[in-house]
Amino acid sequence: MRVLFVCLGNICRSPTAEGVFRRKLSEAGLAERVTVDSAGTGDWHIGKAADARTSLAARQRGYDLSALRARQVEVADFSRFDLILAMDHSNLRDLQRMQPAVAQAELDLYLRRYDLPLDEVPDPYYGGADGFEQVLDLIEQASDALLAEVRQRL
Ligand code: 4NP
Repeated sequence: MRVLFVCLGNICRSPTAEGVFRRKLSEAGLAERVTVDSAGTGDWHIGKAADARTSLAARQRGYDLSALRARQVEVADFSRFDLILAMDHSNLRDLQRMQPAVAQAELDLYLRRYDLPLDEVPDPYYGGADGFEQVLDLIEQASDALLAEVRQRL
């Protein structure tokens, strides 16, 4: 199974989703069976490491995002992945606009898919440190639910 997480810049939310889910998979002994990646709808940060505030908040919870580099989502991703999970409504709309008519990937909003109290992972980029903690809180919850889905599908 192949899962792609998508946000706007690919330096805050989707790398966090990737790092958290990679660790869940590895703890579950499923790392070899699931391909995980992340991308941004925008092109501003291509090639860059995760935002320093994102990396720090993640590291404090034991997630290492240092190997991740930002890339932009591309049409080919719709055939490379089974499930593409958007962080907010705007990301979802941008993805829907670029989705090819015959697309293998299922497209969904990450939190809504698992009925979490919020629909979206709020963009933390222009806010304070609390925003980065909230991103981790939401993504850790969604990640547990995604792991349960993956276990069923494998
Ligand atoms: P992300 O956060 O989409 O979670 O990676 C953002 C990163 C950069 C910008 C906006 C959001 N930006 O405007 O550069």
